[in-house]
Amino acid sequence: MCGIVGYVGHQDAVPILLDGLSKLEYRGYDSAGVAVQRGEKIEIRRSVGKLVNLQKSLAQKQIAGTCGIGHTRWATHGKPSEQNAHPHRSESCVLVHNGIIENYVELKQRLLKDGYKFQSETDTEVVAHLIDKHLQKAGLHLADAVRAAAKEIRGSYAITVISEREPGMLVAARSGCPLVIGRSTDASFVGSDVMAMLAHTRDVTFLEEGDVAEVTASNVTYTDLDGHPVTRKNSMVTWDASAAEKSGYPHFMLKEIHEQPQTILDTIRGRYSYESGEADLPDIGLTPKQFAEVGRIWIVACGTSWHAGLVGKYLLEEMVRTPVQVDIASEFRYRSPIIDQGTLVFVISQSGETADTLAALREAKRKGAKVFGICNVVGSTIARETDAGVFLHAGPEIGVASTKAFTSQLTVLSLLTLLLARMRSMSAAKGGEIVQAMQALPRNIETILGQREQVRKIAESFHHCSNFLYLGRGYNFPVALEGALKLKEISYIHAEGYPAAEMKHGPIALIDDNMPVVFIATQDSTYDKIMSNIEEVRARKGRVIAIATEGDDEIRKVSDHVIYVPRTIEMLTPLLTIIPLQLLAYYIAIMRGCDVDQPRNLAKSVTVE
Ligand code: AGP
Repeated sequence: MCGIVGYVGHQDAVPILLDGLSKLEYRGYDSAGVAVQRGEKIEIRRSVGKLVNLQKSLAQKQIAGTCGIGHTRWATHGKPSEQNAHPHRSESCVLVHNGIIENYVELKQRLLKDGYKFQSETDTEVVAHLIDKHLQKAGLHLADAVRAAAKEIRGSYAITVISEREPGMLVAARSGCPLVIGRSTDASFVGSDVMAMLAHTRDVTFLEEGDVAEVTASNVTYTDLDGHPVTRKNSMVTWDASAAEKSGYPHFMLKEIHEQPQTILDTIRGRYSYESGEADLPDIGLTPKQFAEVGRIWIVACGTSWHAGLVGKYLLEEMVRTPVQVDIASEFRYRSPIIDQGTLVFVISQSGETADTLAALREAKRKGAKVFGICNVVGSTIARETDAGVFLHAGPEIGVASTKAFTSQLTVLSLLTLLLARMRSMSAAKGGEIVQAMQALPRNIETILGQREQVRKIAESFHHCSNFLYLGRGYNFPVALEGALKLKEISYIHAEGYPAAEMKHGPIALIDDNMPVVFIATQDSTYDKIMSNIEEVRARKGRVIAIATEGDDEIRKVSDHVIYVPRTIEMLTPLLTIIPLQLLAYYIAIMRGCDVDQPRNLAKSVTVE
């Protein structure tokens, strides 16, 4: 996600835009830019890297105006560079954009045929030329041109546009990405969230899907995409600035847990077809012929990303029938792995900067493997050094404990499984079933998040414990590992994840009434076996917290606490069963007074070996 700001009033716009962008840096920070209008003339300044580089550039050579827009970027298309930084210009307009234009390739080809020249690799520039086309060719007003262009776009957008043709006018539009309008006595503001304008006004109006706002210093009018006026109610922001950066949540981690319905939507957006039951991952560029030569897949990662890789093994081996090896990066790189031409290596890394994963990538390439990346940060070292890959589109993850990145990694691995399985023997019908189940994930996660209060109550009963055991089978064994990691890294409680059957080979000696045991026990192919494991724990006075499938009354009889998740196909259960475990770890850590977003001894990205 990126940060957008806009201002129109009677003061110099640059300091106001820069202040707004500084409050949105958590939304993205690989490049930044502003465009200001004095009279009709618009001047643009952009810098790659953090916002401070733009501030330095503007201090050296100022630009001025009382109307302007600004942007801090989180790259989705096109590497971080000045050329790809926003704002983007067409002949008659300048704009900033947050979101993903799914049909930008098709629109770009049409615009190229119309004679447009492109300066950047971004999907955003396509929108600028599209609006220009309507402004120039159809002689429309700016707002009409924005509405006409928006109707041709598929995907998500929040845009703010200015034009030499209409000085002192900002046009803002949104679909799928947030945009807020602020009003003060003699000025108007636009922002991706209220953070951008809190220093100037608390009187805000949130745009709704398909809204277009025509913004001047003295007035704001709202319409739908057909130009029909709509009424939007303003509200007064009561949050303080710090809470606003977290959208009102007390911690980034809780905010990011609650972002997951949206981030999964963003991860799958434009990457599947229900009709053909296929996934579409053009950035991987793997043809059925090339995949036919692949004899083995190797997944390499660290920490939570390694847990995602373990789920990937179950997915790919069950659905694609290709042997999959999963390694912790630091082990892979020192083990002299046996790699040949038929080995396909995937490295998974949220930050794209983890030293051990980067070293493993280089070792695999040195041995001749084709290496693909599954990363969240465009332009990161790992993303740049892989041969190709798939970005998570999950937006910046600020909390040290990885949550939304994990579920987006699982989502990409599910899409990859679908892509490769349909190159093999999976039918279109089966593929369509998987697509349908993936489309239901966001609302399924919303349902689970609705049980947060119940999870908080369970945390109250166990936050004083010193040890936890997490047990799962099959797809949910890696979830047991991930649930244990979440707890230990933010609450400092010792927690272990284990395959449930393995409990009898040692850990069962630990069971007593001080040892809470978390079972991930959804009704799937291993359910009966895991119910026996629960009985074994109960027989030794162990206290059981079960993550179960909605409607399962049996498990209530053998558990002290049950958190239900909606039913889904077995391959997608990890995306649901991890949610209550993220919440459980969060609430326990809060009750223990821990620093949830920046736990002791940990860094968000381990860039040392
Ligand atoms: C997960 O909550 C931890 N923050 C940590 O294990 C993390 O997953 C690991 O360091 C890998 O990071 P990466 O995905 O950025 O490579």
